[in-house]
Amino acid sequence: MIYDFEQILKSELGSEMVKYLLSLDDEAAAKQLFAKARETRDAVIGNKVYLRGLIELSNRCSKNCYYCGIRSGNKNVIRYDIPDDEVLKAAEFALQNNYASIVIQSGELNDKTFTKRVTSLLQKIGNLTQNQLHITLSCGEQSPDVYRQWFDNGAQRYLLRIETSSESLYYKIHPNNPKHNFTHRLNALESLKGIGYQTGTGIMIGLPYQTFDDLTNDLFFFKDFGIHMVGMGPYIEHPDTPLAKFSKIMLPLQQRLELTLKMIALLRLLMPDINIASTTALQTIDPLGREKGIAAGANVIMPNITPVKYKENYNLYEGKPCLDEEPDQCTTCIDMRVKLAGGEVAYDQWGDSKFYKRSQSKQ
Ligand code: 5AD
Ligand code: SF4
Ligand code: FES
Repeated sequence: MIYDFEQILKSELGSEMVKYLLSLDDEAAAKQLFAKARETRDAVIGNKVYLRGLIELSNRCSKNCYYCGIRSGNKNVIRYDIPDDEVLKAAEFALQNNYASIVIQSGELNDKTFTKRVTSLLQKIGNLTQNQLHITLSCGEQSPDVYRQWFDNGAQRYLLRIETSSESLYYKIHPNNPKHNFTHRLNALESLKGIGYQTGTGIMIGLPYQTFDDLTNDLFFFKDFGIHMVGMGPYIEHPDTPLAKFSKIMLPLQQRLELTLKMIALLRLLMPDINIASTTALQTIDPLGREKGIAAGANVIMPNITPVKYKENYNLYEGKPCLDEEPDQCTTCIDMRVKLAGGEVAYDQWGDSKFYKRSQSKQ
């Protein structure tokens, strides 16, 4: 069945229609949906794709999420912390290569040594680059005080994925204990937004027991929360994790990819001026996965600028791409890939979420 998307989109996209489009197994309709999302992006925020150089600071983690390869229970991981001087070099690389923005990501550690280290790194990066880089942190759930301290020391954005907005599914993919508490996660997101961060969240797609209703609710959760940035990716099994044992009841990888692209496109239609990342997990399933994400309406790519010797130990899932590529190889590669997808890399631009700016100016 071919849909008249003009007609559908004239009325506001409701949850029934979103669920219907997600579940529709029709290639021609999916293509139309991606084209409409692209058109919407280009009209509202342009076809510029912003870069965030990703630094995987440490793979130590105090949590034990059932899906994640670097969970504390996985004893096969060689744990590392990248020393400050190497982090600073990576930040300098990002600046010199005109990325304008970096993401510092790590497992979740809540001890003072770690939280103070991040504060001091923020100061050092700020000094080294004369605050020319915008910094996103992605270091899990922390107390409001710690979030505030990091914000006051130069972090402008924070990524904390909700993983799923369904509380019952959340407890299927995490241990049900105080360290993995759905309400705490929600509170942490609220606290980030309240402090003034550009706040990002996201989910995984293709989880065991996840339904089209769940995914539809995820999209409306983003909208109702007023989130500024989203990064969603397909769930990919890691053999050393409990969730991998459920492979038999999961969608095939290719379908997880298709579904992720539809989620990106529908989110672009629901929230036209937020930042949406085309995630690395897409590229793990399909060598052209990230290009497809851009072509479905995403506008952010996060090239991995972690020094190669650490990269292979930050294995959240199996088959992570570019493990042997040095950051400069990825830079040329990404420029080409974005062009292929009909986008244009925006160098030297912070690429703040337009929606964030719009919501700040209203206050
Ligand atoms: N597959 C896909 N994404 C994963 N993440 C963790 N493990 C996996 C996996 N097996 C994602 C989570 C987390 C982010 C840092 O990586 O969404 O928030
Ligand atoms: Fe730790 Fe994050 Fe992995 Fe959970 S998803 S185990 S918090 S690194
Ligand atoms: Fe790393 Fe292409 S993105 S080599």
